[in-house]
Amino acid sequence: MIEFDHVTKRYSDQSGTDVVAVRELALTIGRGETHALIGTSGCGKTTTLRMVNRLEDPTSGAIRVGGDDIAAVDVFGLRRRIGYVIQTGGLFPHMTVAANIGVLCELERYAPADIRRRVSELLGLVGLEPDRFATRYPSELSGGQRQRVGVARALALDPDYILMDEPFSALDPITRSEIHDEFEQLLKTVHKTVLLVTHDLHEAFKLADRISIMHRGSVVQTGTREQLERTPANEFVTRFLAGNEVA
Ligand SMILES: Nc1ncnc2c1ncn2[C@@H]1O[C@H](COP(=O)(O)OP(=O)(O)O)[C@@H](O)[C@H]1O
Ligand SMILES: [Mg+2]
Repeated sequence: MIEFDHVTKRYSDQSGTDVVAVRELALTIGRGETHALIGTSGCGKTTTLRMVNRLEDPTSGAIRVGGDDIAAVDVFGLRRRIGYVIQTGGLFPHMTVAANIGVLCELERYAPADIRRRVSELLGLVGLEPDRFATRYPSELSGGQRQRVGVARALALDPDYILMDEPFSALDPITRSEIHDEFEQLLKTVHKTVLLVTHDLHEAFKLADRISIMHRGSVVQTGTREQLERTPANEFVTRFLAGNEVA
């Protein structure tokens, strides 16, 4: 479970002007839920995500992960429990696929044979044949393959939570659609609590159990696809749902 308890995040920009990136966010993401945060650029999605693994700290309010106030726990211990996937994959270019996926196991001082075993298992899980891919470098992969490796790496320590920041948005539509299908299957196998940031309504509908629509730092409405479509909270939600192409 991930709980946002009236979380506000302010930044001051170079001119010293205050920007409220996230305003009074109150949201509970249930255990095993896949929850999408959706909204236009600049509405506070990335900031919300980065506060969960403490890449940013809230200005006020509290965040609890599995019941623990994250301000009060060891940050490295916290990050071990939370996988993180970003849009560009975030792979180390000078390291092979196997080394990229195994990097967290390495830090945890797993035995080399255990790392090899885990890397093979993870490659299989994301649909990449270990024999073909383990020794490649990121530059030798397609965009879709890189994102699969990014997902595999996030799963390496078998975290209960996964944060994903527009993980599939740089992919072409066909690859994205394939990865959506694969990821949907993967989620059925691994049972994680997932917070997925996206600006793609189709992706949110496809993958998420519930969706929060954000606008200017606030969540405008949270619900299932059906709830949002049947009873949009206001005109903004209606327009948001209508203005995006959804298959
Ligand atoms: N480090 C920062 N310093 C100042 N302002 C920031 C910083 N990070 C984000 N912001 C501002 O906070 C707002 C929300 O940004 P962000 O969370 O990245 O939105 P999104 O991911 O929805 O596009 C934007 O107005 C952005 O310019
Ligand atoms: Mg963002």
